[in-house]
Amino acid sequence: MLELAAGLADTGFMAARLVGETGRVIITDFAPEMVAAAHRRAEELGVGNAEFRVLDAERMDLETDSVDGVLCRWAYMLMIDPAAAFAETRRVLRPGGRLAFSVWATPERNLWASLVGRALVTQEHIPPPDPEAPGIFAMADPGRIRELVLGAGFGEPEIEEVALHWAFTDQDDYWRFLTEVAGAISTVLRALPPETQVMVREQVYEEAEPFRSGAGYDFPAVCLNAVAH
Ligand SMILES: C[S@@+](CC[C@H](N)C(=O)[O-])C[C@H]1O[C@@H](n2cnc3c(N)ncnc32)[C@H](O)[C@@H]1O
Repeated sequence: MLELAAGLADTGFMAARLVGETGRVIITDFAPEMVAAAHRRAEELGVGNAEFRVLDAERMDLETDSVDGVLCRWAYMLMIDPAAAFAETRRVLRPGGRLAFSVWATPERNLWASLVGRALVTQEHIPPPDPEAPGIFAMADPGRIRELVLGAGFGEPEIEEVALHWAFTDQDDYWRFLTEVAGAISTVLRALPPETQVMVREQVYEEAEPFRSGAGYDFPAVCLNAVAH
């Protein structure tokens, strides 16, 4: 089993448990720091049937027909050339092997992630995003998922909506997530002068008010999970 763009490998470690002691999971990411952190985590958690490699999903240094399954959570839509990544995925999967991946549904259904982009656009710090450009919502349209999956030579994908919750313990916890964890947006936010950051933060908090839960927030979220052979 191969996990692409694994980050800290939450998903890959679940797969490692499922494949059991005789199975193996290859945990990969193109960021060496992520692979090193996932490796350390595996040692802490006692995951013994995983190996770790730096691997770019768009050009995989792996043999053709070499893995039984591929997993990828929340990453294909961030890739510069997703068509190349899906074609590479098809190449390394053995015939009949299964691809399972997850991407985010539309910004309107994932306000936990989109409110801040909206605030940055309305306050004119960034232009409106190009919906086709790589980014968290670039595969929110099931038609786009289908096009990429079929274009890479897979059969018709099964696509399922999965609802989940994204919770933050308090406002600082949410702001820390937005400024430190939320990918490209974090870089934009951190580059703003402090007084401008305050204005963006105020707009985000105001629009997040309907999702207040205790001292923090509880946002509904929706991702699209797809399986293809
Ligand atoms: C949002 S994180 C998701 C991490 C993990 N899959 C998870 O669900 O927690 C996206 C990850 O994709 C990785 N990534 C982005 N483009 C990649 C590529 N072309 N090849 C491999 N990894 C990539 C990043 O380094 C990052 O770790």
